[in-house]
Formats: sequence, structure tokens, C-alpha cells
Amino acid sequence: MLQLAEQVSKNAYVPYSKFPVGACVLCESGNTYTGCNFENSSFGLTICAERNAIGTAVANGEKKIKAIAIFSPNMANCTPCGACRQVLNEFKSGEGLDVITKTEGGMRVYTLNELLPECFEL
Ligand code: THU
Repeated sequence: MLQLAEQVSKNAYVPYSKFPVGACVLCESGNTYTGCNFENSSFGLTICAERNAIGTAVANGEKKIKAIAIFSPNMANCTPCGACRQVLNEFKSGEGLDVITKTEGGMRVYTLNELLPECFEL
């Protein structure tokens, strides 16, 4: 999954931040979907790699995500922003959701619960 995230990060559209990110989600079906960040001259319209990957999964009929891997060539241990954590929470599988990042020496695995404690849910 980290390799797929690295591959898709090469397609990131980041003329403003120059900070490419790639993400790969693994769904309960066993299928994986990738996404990269894409920015806009109206900066607030930027879409993160994580939400792009989640949107692609949902567009393909997925509702339950087991894990997400995130890669940026510019930063070790690139964890999802607060907005993406909340969006991930919406689609976490019954067994929860693991967040996988690339570190200097290897990888790190968090649970979404660790990254988003006491979260809002309806
Ligand atoms: N970004 C992501 O795509 N995912 C993250 O986890 C952190 C931030 C993007 C948004 C923006 O295009 C650039 O990285 C710098 O914030």
C-alpha cells in the first residue's frame, strides 16, 4: 500500500505548496484505491490525497475502509490532517481503521482512534 501511495504521489498537482502526497486505502472488499492531492489557485479548495482516495473508493461502491497508507516524498511520517481524519472516521470498518505512514527507517501504524480520540459522530 505504501508503494502504491508513493506511485500515485507522482501525479499530485501541487504548483503552490510543492508538497506532493499520495494515499492508498484498503477496503473490506479487499480492493485498494489511490489518490493524490490537487490544489487550486483558490487555496482553500485544495483536496488532500486521503480524501481523493476515499472519494474514489466511495465512487466504486465501497463504504468500509480497513486501512490507509500515506506517503509524501517531502516528509517522513506524514499523518492525515484533521479534516481527513474526520472523513476517514465516517468510513472506518467495524474493526476500526489503521493509518500507515512511511518513516525514515520503515513504517509506522496508528489506529484512527489514536489519531482522532473523542471524535464527533451522529
Ligand atoms: N496534504 C495532503 O494531501 N495530505 C496530508 O496529509 C497533509 C496535507 C496536502 C494539502 C496541500 O496540497 C499540501 O499537502 C500542503 O498542505
